Amino acid sequence: MKRVGLVGWRGMVGSVLMQRMQEEKDFDHIEPIFFTTSNKGGAAPAMAKNEKTLQDANDIDALKQCDIIITCQGGDYTTDIFPKLRAAGWDGYWIDAASTLRMKDDAVIVLDPVNLNVIKDAMGRGVKNYIGGNCTNSILLMGVGGLFHAGLVDWVSSMTYQAASGGGANHMRELLSGMGVVHGAVAEELKTPSSAILDIDRKVAQTIRQDVPTEFFGAPLAGGLIPWIDAQLENGQSKEEWKGQAEVNKILGNTQPIPVDGLCVRIGAMRCHSLALTIKLKKDVPLAEIEQIIRGGNQWVKWVPNERALTVKELTPAAITGGLEIGVGRVRKLNQGPEYLSAFVIGDQLLWGAAEPLRRMLRIILG
Ligand code: HSE
Repeated sequence: MKRVGLVGWRGMVGSVLMQRMQEEKDFDHIEPIFFTTSNKGGAAPAMAKNEKTLQDANDIDALKQCDIIITCQGGDYTTDIFPKLRAAGWDGYWIDAASTLRMKDDAVIVLDPVNLNVIKDAMGRGVKNYIGGNCTNSILLMGVGGLFHAGLVDWVSSMTYQAASGGGANHMRELLSGMGVVHGAVAEELKTPSSAILDIDRKVAQTIRQDVPTEFFGAPLAGGLIPWIDAQLENGQSKEEWKGQAEVNKILGNTQPIPVDGLCVRIGAMRCHSLALTIKLKKDVPLAEIEQIIRGGNQWVKWVPNERALTVKELTPAAITGGLEIGVGRVRKLNQGPEYLSAFVIGDQLLWGAAEPLRRMLRIILG
């Protein structure tokens, strides 16, 4: 059995990964080695087989014993350890949730329901670095990848509504704390149906400006939104926005890049990222055909007909969170012309957006 090193398995993405690996019985096929940055010698979790203690995640010799390493430890760890491990002659498979290596020439962004051909081709060429994509782009392609594969996409405008979990566990906590602070400020008034809503609103606005915690998001998210995600680039894009075109085209293995751009916005959802898309098609295709193409993209597409009752029930974070389905709905032709299509895509960013492509890559390597 292949020795598979697991690093960062206790964090949020790592925990989702462990849960999915257990559900899919991945541990039946590997000899897991659990690594730690803080608790060397501690007890490994129940899935451990021969090696029942935690190994040092900074020990290159210990890491070198693995055939495959999966890390959710984060970008700083990858930046520090990966070059040392390769310099020490390690030739194993590196599967990583962090963005550090994503755009490197010797790395493939993994999303096998969309780019198994790119992955297989790279494996054939001896590529050993397989990196999970940015969550928003993975969800975009899991939703409407069928249209890309059909060669129908001229360009995409992608306006996002991104959940707190994209920032991390602390960000989710901050959102919830903020919601509590806002509610607490007007809890008494809310008990009285006759209380004046504009008085309540005034108090809420003041609370959002002054009392909602902002340590992790840098601005109040509860009761609002933040129209910027990640670093500022010189061209006016946020780094999150830049990733759209760069990663989508790399995932698809395109030599002629398809323009993908739009604004990325943080909203007060917990772990579902959504995208409102305008897709410019290369030609006018009937809606019925478009539906078939999108549904045929992969088995996780959950097609939601463009009807109000179904949309508000099925195409929301409440409906999608915690599952592998990618909701695709609001598909219709726009006033701009018959080649202009709208779509709303929504997925759990901790599953297809982070953990799931990693464990599936492991299974592809195991064969
Ligand atoms: N960068 C994403 C976000 C999460 O902040 O929502 C990871 O892909």
